[in-house]
Amino acid sequence: MGEAPPDWAESYRAGQTPWDLGAAHPELARRLQDGSLAPPASGGRALVPGAGRGHDALALARRGWTVVALDLVETLADDLAGPLSRSGGRFVAGNALEFEDEPFDLIWDHTFFCAIDPADRARWGQRAGELLRPGAVYAALVFPFGKPAAEGGPPHGMSGDHLAEVLAARLEVVEEAEALRKVPARRWGERFFLARRRPMGLTPTP
Ligand SMILES: C[S@@+](CC[C@H](N)C(=O)[O-])C[C@H]1O[C@@H](n2cnc3c(N)ncnc32)[C@H](O)[C@@H]1O
Repeated sequence: MGEAPPDWAESYRAGQTPWDLGAAHPELARRLQDGSLAPPASGGRALVPGAGRGHDALALARRGWTVVALDLVETLADDLAGPLSRSGGRFVAGNALEFEDEPFDLIWDHTFFCAIDPADRARWGQRAGELLRPGAVYAALVFPFGKPAAEGGPPHGMSGDHLAEVLAARLEVVEEAEALRKVPARRWGERFFLARRRPMGLTPTP
């Protein structure tokens, strides 16, 4: 028998949220600071799937992104919806696998991909590709990197290759690097991953 899917709402209700760093991820903070994840000069739309308590979403909003923070757990809106709406963004309670909206310039995925069932990964890859405009980027914190697949989940082990594979129809990997980590560090590795959506009509190189 497979493992029961996580009850995310119950984890938040019970305060059992070991994934929550209590602040924006240091790698995101660094890239917002150095401008490498800055919004376009004309303004940019960022989607944060599996936003949790929204530390990253709020950091993006503070740097000028118009942020849509998306999570299955409705009660997360209590603390997040107000601050996001003040910067033109919003919180959406819903399933990222079914989410539709205007195109985004950035998807920031921090321990979201590892939270979805591996059977749903291809579906998310397609959704993400459709949600990004050509030239837009999918930036992710790849975690837990190096966790043996046999250890199962949740969260499910993953590597940048897993992400690259499901995004391949529309996106090309442009960077994979060691991520700046919080001290004390999480038990498994973390890497930064960046893929860019190809211009319309361009097909992946074989
Ligand atoms: C491991 S937590 C990470 C939360 C946040 N990114 C952070 O780093 O604190 C995964 C989050 O994804 C949300 N989630 C899981 N599956 C989802 C789905 N299909 N659509 C939207 N959110 C989902 C959970 O409710 C949870 O908040």
